[in-house]
Amino acid sequence: MKLVNTISEIKSIISLQKQKGTTIGFVPTMGALHEGHLSLVRRAKTECDIVVTSIFVNPSQFNDPNDLKKYPRTLESDLELLEKEQCELVFAPTEMEISGSEKPDVSQYDFGPLESVMEGKFRPGHFKGVAYIVHSLFEIITPDKAYFGEKDFQQLTIIHELVKKYELPVEIIHCSTVRESDGLAMSSRNINLSEEERKTALLLSSSLYRAKDLSNSLSPLKVKDQIIKELQSEIQLQLEYFDIVDSEKLNPINEWNESYHVRACISAYVGNTRLIDNMRLIP
Ligand code: PAF
Repeated sequence: MKLVNTISEIKSIISLQKQKGTTIGFVPTMGALHEGHLSLVRRAKTECDIVVTSIFVNPSQFNDPNDLKKYPRTLESDLELLEKEQCELVFAPTEMEISGSEKPDVSQYDFGPLESVMEGKFRPGHFKGVAYIVHSLFEIITPDKAYFGEKDFQQLTIIHELVKKYELPVEIIHCSTVRESDGLAMSSRNINLSEEERKTALLLSSSLYRAKDLSNSLSPLKVKDQIIKELQSEIQLQLEYFDIVDSEKLNPINEWNESYHVRACISAYVGNTRLIDNMRLIP
């Protein structure tokens, strides 16, 4: 496995590989790797000749400077994990390398309502920052396929739009959320949970499973109201949103309809840690 920090070096390695006809699988990450990320690397390894994983905590997608400061950084152990997975290349640039000394202008990335609902409502500008970095990384790495986890479902929707809008020659591969045995979605932020908070965090996944159950007998609106009522009675958790939306446009839905996929999406603070999760309800 080779660790590369500069754009010029990674570009020249990739261009040599491409001349040989090698296919490139790309796993963009912000580090603090867990099984969820590693499952993306494994999938990429089965579908591409070589795998590039990037590790870059992208300041432009953090609307809260404290959140950026607190974001776990574990480069040493990340590299060990990637080595074990036999990832061929790791790209870990500095902020200076990616954006220079100026704050990047992310205003061109406009996804309309897709970026203003759910996460967008609570993290204004977040998806502009995500689109900026993913677009920049796609231009540097020029992957054939790029792998993203469904845990960040709205992000995945935005990335599909990005690829369509800028006609980027990359296939986006969705990978299922990896969960702990008790249902908690794996997340780099879970490291920040105390033992007690870790138990409370289970309310996110359990409310999604419960919504799935309730969807057999109640309307989407009633399911939403019921789950919100239950979560608001949990004082250790501060709910930001619980929404039931169609998976493509992320519009709230009023009735179950077999002709489109429906997702329940949730975000909440447990202590100082902000967590998100989502689950497909129907079909
Ligand atoms: O999902 C993430 O970890 C990040 O948003 C991504 C896609 C690596 C961009 O910084």
